[in-house]
Amino acid sequence: MSVLRVSVWRGGADGAFQDFDVPRHASQTVLDVVTHIQRVLDPTLAYRFACRVGMCGSCAMTVNGVARWTCRTHIDKAIENGNALRLEPLRNLPVIRDLVSDMREFFDKWARAKGQFQGRLGRKDDFEKIKPQSPERLQVDAGIECIGCGVCYAACDVVSWNPEYLGPAALNRAWTLQQDQRDSTKMERLRAVAGDAGCHACHTHMSCTERCPKQLSPTAAIAGLKREVARAVLGGKL
Ligand code: SF4
Ligand code: SF4
Ligand code: FES
Repeated sequence: MSVLRVSVWRGGADGAFQDFDVPRHASQTVLDVVTHIQRVLDPTLAYRFACRVGMCGSCAMTVNGVARWTCRTHIDKAIENGNALRLEPLRNLPVIRDLVSDMREFFDKWARAKGQFQGRLGRKDDFEKIKPQSPERLQVDAGIECIGCGVCYAACDVVSWNPEYLGPAALNRAWTLQQDQRDSTKMERLRAVAGDAGCHACHTHMSCTERCPKQLSPTAAIAGLKREVARAVLGGKL
C-alpha cells in the first residue's frame, strides 16, 4: 500500500507545518486524509466539515497551494506527481487554529453588500409569481447555488491586496438579489457595492470563477453589477 506524506499547518498565524504519513486508498478524498489524521494520529488537529457531500461549504482548505472544497476533491486530482500533500487553512482570512479559518469577515462582507433578501409583501399577501424562464429568474438561478465555502475569496488576489474589497462571493450574492424581482432594496444595494471596495475594484482575473466548486461565475455577476452601477450613475440615480 502506498503512503501519503502529508504536511499540515498547525497552530495560528505563527504556526508551522507538521508531517504525517497516511495510507493511500482508491477514491480517497482530501477530507478523508484529514479525518484519518485527526482520528488515528493526532486528535488535537482542528478542521471543519459537516455534510461531506458538497452542500455545507465548511470543508474548504488550501490543498497543495490551491483553494478547494476537500470533501469532493479526490487525492488523485489534488496531487499531480508523487505522494506529497500540503494542507493549509484558506488564504485571505485569519487563522483560528490548524486548518480552521475565521470566516467572520467573509460573511460580514455579505451583510455589507446588502446580501439579505428584503421582500415587499406581507405574510397575508399572495406569494409573487415569477416566470421560470424570465431572464431575471435565469440570472438568479445562475448564482443562487453558492454554498459560502470561501474558495473564491481565498483565490482572489484583489482581496489580498485590498482587505476592504467585498470579494467575489458577497458581490455574486448582491447580483443575485439585484435580479430577484421580489426584492425591494435595489438602490440601497447598488450604493453598497458601488464604492472603492465594491465591484469596480475587481480586476476580472477570473480566479474566483475558475476555482468555484459549484461552477458559478462571480466574475460575470460582478460585471453585471458594474453595468448596473454605470446605468444608475448615467441616469442620475447614484
Ligand atoms: S474576477 Fe474579480 S473577484 Fe474574481 S478573482 Fe478576479 S479580481 Fe477577484
Ligand atoms: S461563489 Fe463558489 S467559491 Fe465562492 S463561496 Fe460561493 S460556492 Fe464557494
Ligand atoms: S463537508 Fe460540506 S461541503 Fe464539504
